[in-house]
This record gives sequence, C-alpha cells and structure tokens, in this order.
Amino acid sequence: MRRNGAAARLLAGLILMGAFAPGAALGQQATPPLPAAGRTDSLAASLATANARVAVWDIPDIDLLPDDEEGRLVRYGRSVLEASARHMGPDAADPAQRFAGNNLACVNCHLDAGRKKFGLPLVAAAADYPRYSTRTGETADLADRIDGCMTRSMNGRAMPRDAKPMRALLAYLTLLSSALPKDAKIEGAGAGAIPALERPANPARGAVIYAQTCVACHRAGGEGLRRNEADASFGYGVPPLWGPDSFNDGAGMNRLVTIANFVHDNMPNGVSWVMPALAPEEAWDVAAYVASQTRPHRDGLDRDFPDLLDKPVDTPYGPYADGFSQAQHKYGPFGPIRAEIARLKADKGRVPNPNVR
Ligand code: HEC
Ligand code: HEC
Repeated sequence: MRRNGAAARLLAGLILMGAFAPGAALGQQATPPLPAAGRTDSLAASLATANARVAVWDIPDIDLLPDDEEGRLVRYGRSVLEASARHMGPDAADPAQRFAGNNLACVNCHLDAGRKKFGLPLVAAAADYPRYSTRTGETADLADRIDGCMTRSMNGRAMPRDAKPMRALLAYLTLLSSALPKDAKIEGAGAGAIPALERPANPARGAVIYAQTCVACHRAGGEGLRRNEADASFGYGVPPLWGPDSFNDGAGMNRLVTIANFVHDNMPNGVSWVMPALAPEEAWDVAAYVASQTRPHRDGLDRDFPDLLDKPVDTPYGPYADGFSQAQHKYGPFGPIRAEIARLKADKGRVPNPNVR
C-alpha cells in the first residue's frame, strides 16, 4: 500500500462517487457502518486505516457483458463458482473435469458470488496475486491460490492451467477486481475480527447453540441439505459442516479464528456483520463444536509453513515453534500463543519447519 497509497485513495474516492450510481455492486455498505455489539475495536481500527483500504468498489454487471468469447467465459466462471459440483464435482457429467473431491461450491464460503464484506470476498483477489504464500514458502499466483482451495476446501486436486473451470474462474475473478488498483486492500476482507476469548472456546457449550441456531438448516449430523437427493452434482441448498463431503482438515475454514468470525458475521445465513445474530462468545463456542467433529484428512499437513513463526496461531495441526499444546492451538486462548510467537520472532527471526527439506 505504501507505494500506491495516493493512487489508491484517489481511486477509492472515484469509486465512492460511482457507488451511488445505479448498478453499483451489491453486498457492501456505502455509508459508514453502525457499530454492532462487540465490534467497537475493529470499527476504530477500520476508521484508522480508512485511508489505506478501499471501502466501496464498482463491479461491472456481468449480465451486461457482450455475448462474445470473453463475456461467455466470465459468465461460465460465475457458474463454476456457484454450481461447482455440477462443473467439477465428484459426480460431474464429464469425468475429466472431476477436480473437486466434495460437492461444496465456492460460493458456500465466498458468499454472494465472492462479493460480500466479511463473507470471504474475492473482490480483491486478482489485484493481490501473485503474492508470497507463508503456507508454501513460495510465491503463489491466482491459479495457485485457487488450487489451494481446490485441494483443501474442496478436498480435491489441483487443476491444469488450461482446464476450462480454471480459465473461467480466473476470468471471473479478474473481472471482480477490474476497478481496483494493483495490491489494493479492501474493507471487509476475510471474515472479520471479533474480540478474542480469554478462555478456550467450548465445544459442549457450542453444541447447545448449534441445536438452537444451526440444526434447522445444517441438520443434526452436520450433513446439510442436498438440492437433489438422486444427483449429488446439484450440490447443496445448505452445505455440510463436517463429515465425508465437507472441507478437509487442512482448509482455512478448519481454523477456529476463521470459522468463528465467518459464523458471527454471516450465520444464520442471511445476517451480515452490520447486524449479527450471535454474540462473539456464542460464535467462538459454536465454531469450536463444528471444529470438534470429524472431516476428511489431508496428508502432508506437517510440511505446511516452512517458517513455523509464520504459522497462524489457530492452525490445528503441528509442528509448532512454541511450547503450546495442539488443543490450545485448536481452541485457544490464542493471546498467549501470539505473544510467544512475537517473542520468538524478535529473538530468532525464523524457525525452520523440520519436515521441509
Ligand atoms: C469451505 C470454505 C471454502 C470453500 C468451499 C472455498 N474457499 Fe476459497 N477460501 C476460503 C478461506 C477460509 C480463504 C482464506 C480467506 C482469507 O485468508 O482471508 C479462502 C481464500 C480464497 C482465495 C484467496 C482470496 C484472497 O483475496 O486472498 C481465493 C482466490 C479462493 N479462496 C478461491 C476459491 C475458489 C475458486 C473456490 C471454489 C473452487 C473456493 N475458494 C472454495 C474458504 C473456502
Ligand atoms: C437459514 C439456514 C441456515 C442457518 C440457520 C445456518 N446456516 Fe450456515 N449456511 C447456510 C447456507 C445456505 C450456507 C451457504 C451459503 C451460500 O451458498 O450462499 C451456509 C454456509 C455455512 C458455512 C460455510 C460453508 C461450509 O460448508 O462450511 C458455515 C461454516 C456455516 N454455514 C455455519 C453455520 C453455523 C455454525 C450456524 C449456526 C450458528 C449456521 N451456519 C446457521 C444456511 C444456514
């Protein structure tokens, strides 16, 4: 942001003006948001960094793109994002295109076709890659990052660069970012930052909240609701949260900070971070309940993060550079781990992962 600060502010201003015109993108607040319960800290933080983050952006209306090769590819990409299982799931019509290992859709997590603030938006992705990946220790381009979700969130395999779903997703994501400057940071990126707990998140308390607030949609066994019982490729009306057709244990959604914030700001489906239904504490506990369930396992996770000091504090699998237990990395509290990592960083700079040659 340092280099492009002035340009980004100028563009942010222009985009702000454009936001009041008809056709401005959905899923964002044009006015400063009201503080919600437990949100004051991050609101202050977002105001403090308001100059650096693009608050409102414009996305061309995809349905108005011409019916040429590019327009068709972008529309196909939106469809791959929304009906992933149909195009590339384990039961997709063309066996050569079965890259995903489950019947989730990208949009189940990247809400509103990747446009919802704190719903893991993809609006800035094409502007932000290539970028260094702490998980692999290498520079990742946008296709590599998509494959990160293919192999973990979608529990499948990487796609060849020239596979049609990959080309289409890249075209769609490039269009989403087309109004943003290179390296732009958007307001509402990720899943949010609810206040941390001072105690471990509690799966038993979470089970009670799950039974009250989630079970009607996600079902007692976490299996969700298929659109078509006879054909899994139609995907889910409500996606599973655990079990054999869910994301695997190496996925970002399997980290407590990510899922707690995602649930707080987006669940029950339809709420937003401006007016959440759950208190932060309830979100932590219900997320812990989901995290305590079984899901597909990905081999080789112990080789993630070549520098162990880059490993997010809530990564639920080792090895770790600090002395904290796996249980604390899974359920928190994370404050003490964060402090120890900061101390080790100041002391040693880096701690190589012994499993990476
Ligand atoms: C189970 C939930 C889930 C599913 C399904 C999923 N993702 Fe993700 N995705 C995530 C999480 C969590 C992140 C990390 C977000 C962060 O770090 O802010 C992420 C990050 C990304 C990013 C990087 C965004 C950025 O700006 O850094 C891209 C691109 C992406 N996903 C694409 C996809 C695509 C394409 C699909 C479908 C093939 C998909 N994802 C399916 C959860 C999911
Ligand atoms: C009204 C029905 C409904 C309720 C209630 C609900 N969800 Fe969801 N949930 C959904 C739908 C639908 C999606 C997918 C959204 C999409 O595809 O646009 C989803 C997506 C998710 C995801 C990301 C996708 C995945 O497979 O992991 C998580 C995590 C999640 N919900 C957790 C919860 C939790 C925890 C609760 C209870 C606090 C809850 N939901 C309550 C309908 C619901």
